Amino acid sequence: MPTTQTTPANSTIGRDTVRIDGPRKVSGMAQYTSDYHFPGLLYAVPVEATIANGRIVKLDTVAAEKMPGVRAILHRGNIGKIFRSTAGPEFEGICEERRPPFEDDVVRSYGQYIALAVADTFETAKAAADAVRVTYAKEKPNVENLLKADDDPEAVITTFGLRNRTDNERGDVEAAFAAAPEKLDETYVTPTESHNPIELHATTAIWDAGLTTLTLYESSQGVVNLKGVLAQMFGLPKENVRVITKFVGSGFGSKLFPWSQCPLAAAAARQLGKPVKLVLSRKMMFQTVGHRPRTQQRVRLGATPDGKLVALAHDYLYQRSMLDLHHEDCGETTPFQYSVPNVRVSFGRAKRNIGAAADMRGPGAVPGLYATESAMNELADRLKIDPVQLRILNEPKIDEGKKLPFSSRHLLECFELGKEQFGWSKRTPEVGSMKRDGLTLGWGMAGCSWIAARFAAQASVQLRDDGTVRVASATQDIGTGTYTILAQLAAEKTGVPLSKVEVALGDTSLPDGPLSGGSLATGSLVPAVYSAADSAIKSLLTLAATTPGLGFENRKPDDLAFEGGQVLVKADGAAKGIGFGEVLRKANVRLVGGHGKAEGTFGNPEAKFSTHSFGCHFVEVTWQAEIARLRVSRVVTVIDAGRIINPLAGRNQIQGAVVMGIGMALFEHVSYDHESGAPINSNLADYAMAVNADSPPIDVHFVDFPDKEINELGARGIGEIGLAGIAAAITAAVHHATGVRVRELPVKIENLLV
Ligand code: MOS
Repeated sequence: MPTTQTTPANSTIGRDTVRIDGPRKVSGMAQYTSDYHFPGLLYAVPVEATIANGRIVKLDTVAAEKMPGVRAILHRGNIGKIFRSTAGPEFEGICEERRPPFEDDVVRSYGQYIALAVADTFETAKAAADAVRVTYAKEKPNVENLLKADDDPEAVITTFGLRNRTDNERGDVEAAFAAAPEKLDETYVTPTESHNPIELHATTAIWDAGLTTLTLYESSQGVVNLKGVLAQMFGLPKENVRVITKFVGSGFGSKLFPWSQCPLAAAAARQLGKPVKLVLSRKMMFQTVGHRPRTQQRVRLGATPDGKLVALAHDYLYQRSMLDLHHEDCGETTPFQYSVPNVRVSFGRAKRNIGAAADMRGPGAVPGLYATESAMNELADRLKIDPVQLRILNEPKIDEGKKLPFSSRHLLECFELGKEQFGWSKRTPEVGSMKRDGLTLGWGMAGCSWIAARFAAQASVQLRDDGTVRVASATQDIGTGTYTILAQLAAEKTGVPLSKVEVALGDTSLPDGPLSGGSLATGSLVPAVYSAADSAIKSLLTLAATTPGLGFENRKPDDLAFEGGQVLVKADGAAKGIGFGEVLRKANVRLVGGHGKAEGTFGNPEAKFSTHSFGCHFVEVTWQAEIARLRVSRVVTVIDAGRIINPLAGRNQIQGAVVMGIGMALFEHVSYDHESGAPINSNLADYAMAVNADSPPIDVHFVDFPDKEINELGARGIGEIGLAGIAAAITAAVHHATGVRVRELPVKIENLLV
């Protein structure tokens, strides 16, 4: 496989780099949100609605209030003013819940917060929350699985303010499908899935004595946006709100935007004049902090007998809550993944009495590619064409939806490497035809893609007189390796080893950084950190040229250069360089700093290129019909995500996503009780996820094609793409082994007992 860029010997860019925050995590030194403790800290526990549709008629808080140690039972009548937030253009003011907590007496979903018990201890607060008596006017909840589109004039307005895109339609799909010699028309269903990061959502809110500044410790994927939202909700200037998130036990999208626990803790702290901590229960994680919504997707493919696509219609529905504006963009990849002259993507939504939907790792594309890639696999089988070959036949030259060239698309190289690594040429297509050690093998594959772009980002870099470097940005490390990436970027630019770089993030007092979302954080930070470093280096050179005793007298800053951590005269070369620490010491200056800022490109309508990452999965399952045992036994995944800054962390991201994909294909789903509307498997015993015992060897490869449209390193993101397509590859392998085509996830063992 061609490697188009080589890594110099002294650089960590593109090299396996152990996480710099690892020792703090494994030694328990890393402080997660619920680890912080403050003098006088109070604990809050929400009262959860036990109906999913109706009204609160009466809240009886008398018994709860009398309990020793209880400070307050807050509800609609006494919580104090909380404003709605309004979404701005740059992820400012976005929250998934479309109303502040306790805004009215309507219950729209099971588990909705209807009151808040605050007490000296967590146990007392929990007991008090349980002691609140609620009388409801109850109506039957709608948690129907079968989706039919609502009459929904808002359907084109989404969380991000995006509208139904024009690139969603080209040609005449109905006519082309009707005339196509080969047709496939199938509907694929994905269930509600719950994010379930290990770390529970948590907030600790602290006001100053005059109630003018608010500090929030929150487990967040976006501290800057959270600051903006809470400033709006409490009527504060933005600079009076500070959000701190030093470590996150992951989020998978559920922590992208604020949820109600955050304003609730802040309102309680405001009222009681003490810091208040609110940590969700695992059960609440299924109710009030988002989920991947159920989808129902009809895919129609029209093709010629030799496999050339002529029509592609992707018409899908998804469920939503009564209030949210979440858009599950299942058709995100449909307009550009293949070359097809006639395409249409459409969607509809169906309201349900459930909590708000939210982005979950690879939102839109993950359920969407499950459907479209499954359809491609079914078409390949019908036409008796190898599924890789069918994709190669329909590889587009440009993004036919946007009519733009791709900045960098190397899907064919991914297929080639994946086939070779997996041994795909040995596949025999007949169902059940492959055996090993008494087991039936199934081999399946699928392609994938995910967005690539940048959010606006800022960073600062300081060079210090002790020869160390500090890099800072108000972004956050959600477990993906952002601390390490920032250290690598700063080390690369300043020539110091990683051990001499201090990284500060997770604090809104630092320069505004990007959301950890959309797999965009790394790509967004590269130009911000690089320009901050350039600016610090410029100050250093100016200082060097004006500091006596360094041998740079009579030199202009332009005569000097900075290489490998040293200031030198360009004409003299590296031999006479002086380390920046020494320059600063001679000048009696502690540090020089620079600030860097890079504009975002996400959603840019003027873009000249279509920017995406690509990849493919090859999956082997084993099937033991006698005891109905299905296992995913081997996965090869190849990803084209531009330059990979830290392949060790990168492979780790893809492996984690593949494990999550095994869960998506075989286990994960939230079931709702049709009487109460409650998610009934709202715990980690009943909500099955893939664990180590379900995880086979996962062989991850990157094809290294830097994408210079994204940033100077050519690095795109890798957090989500590994989950795209994998479920379609697994279900294809299941069909190859068993002959059963499952079109509703997850694949249950009952499906295979035929
Ligand atoms: Mo991701 S769903 O953008 O955290």
